[in-house]
Amino acid sequence: MPTHRISLPGFILIMIAGLSPAGADVGPTLDALRGADYMKGKQSFQSRCSACHTLADSSGDIAGPNLWGIFDRVAGKKSGFTYSAALRDAAFPWSPARLDAWLADPRGYLPGNIMGIPEAVPAAERLNILSFLMIETGAVDWPRPETNFADAQTDASRPPSERFPSFWNHLMFNTARYRWENAAAGEDYSFDAYFKTDGTVVTSEKRVTGFWHITARNFFCYALTGMPVGVGHMVECFPVAAMAIPRFAEELWVSKPQPGVQLHGGMIAGRPDWVYGGPAP
Ligand code: HEC
Repeated sequence: MPTHRISLPGFILIMIAGLSPAGADVGPTLDALRGADYMKGKQSFQSRCSACHTLADSSGDIAGPNLWGIFDRVAGKKSGFTYSAALRDAAFPWSPARLDAWLADPRGYLPGNIMGIPEAVPAAERLNILSFLMIETGAVDWPRPETNFADAQTDASRPPSERFPSFWNHLMFNTARYRWENAAAGEDYSFDAYFKTDGTVVTSEKRVTGFWHITARNFFCYALTGMPVGVGHMVECFPVAAMAIPRFAEELWVSKPQPGVQLHGGMIAGRPDWVYGGPAP
């Protein structure tokens, strides 16, 4: 009977979908995705994903693959990108439901994947990110909102806490740990710095203080004085975008503020009370 022949492949497909990694057939509905908040999705994508992924057609791969057309392609198959075996061997096409399940459980979904995001993405943000991604990777032609949000970030009349919320919360409420190393001069000096919302910097060394500001090109620049090493002061700038993804580790970056010096920097969660005006150590 012809009907049986026709219905069998459909039945098998449903079976395969049911057996593939969790979350294949549950997830946000199309209506929920269509009604999601594009601007919030964009903001979440920028703070959580954009350091590793471009979206536009034929943009390059960075740490992660370019995502144009992601909802039309089989996982782990973009040519020119080197995937983990976990993703390379995944045989399913990406759907919003599957991506939703992955972002909800970055390690447990597809064990062995090498997408190093520090934490699960909360459900409310996932819906907005997925909707934004569907629009920006060409999966749907839903209209973008009228407001030109791209420019929330470059609108200098808005405070940095609104323009760069992720960066702001990370740097202004945690501890930046530094190690100044100049082997030739025999210098090996560690201190903690606390960037404060009023534009000043205090450190674990009473006499080392400083200030910071964000330039028109969105570089975060800071100066420290009173240091017992080098010429006694230093200035550094880095793009705000470089800290778009909050990470904690003793050593996250190394810079060369002065000839012969390696300045190791990292972020430690939290900061002591005295930074906010309590008794200094
Ligand atoms: C630290 C870098 C990094 C961040 C941040 C990151 N990704 Fe990834 N992403 C990767 C890497 C690396 C891979 C390939 C993983 C593998 O091969 O196991 C990947 C793979 C993917 C894939 C599958 C691509 C394919 O061709 O199958 C999607 C979809 C994806 N990421 C979406 C996101 C989203 C959405 C976010 C933000 C919530 C995000 N990623 C954040 C690095 C990152």
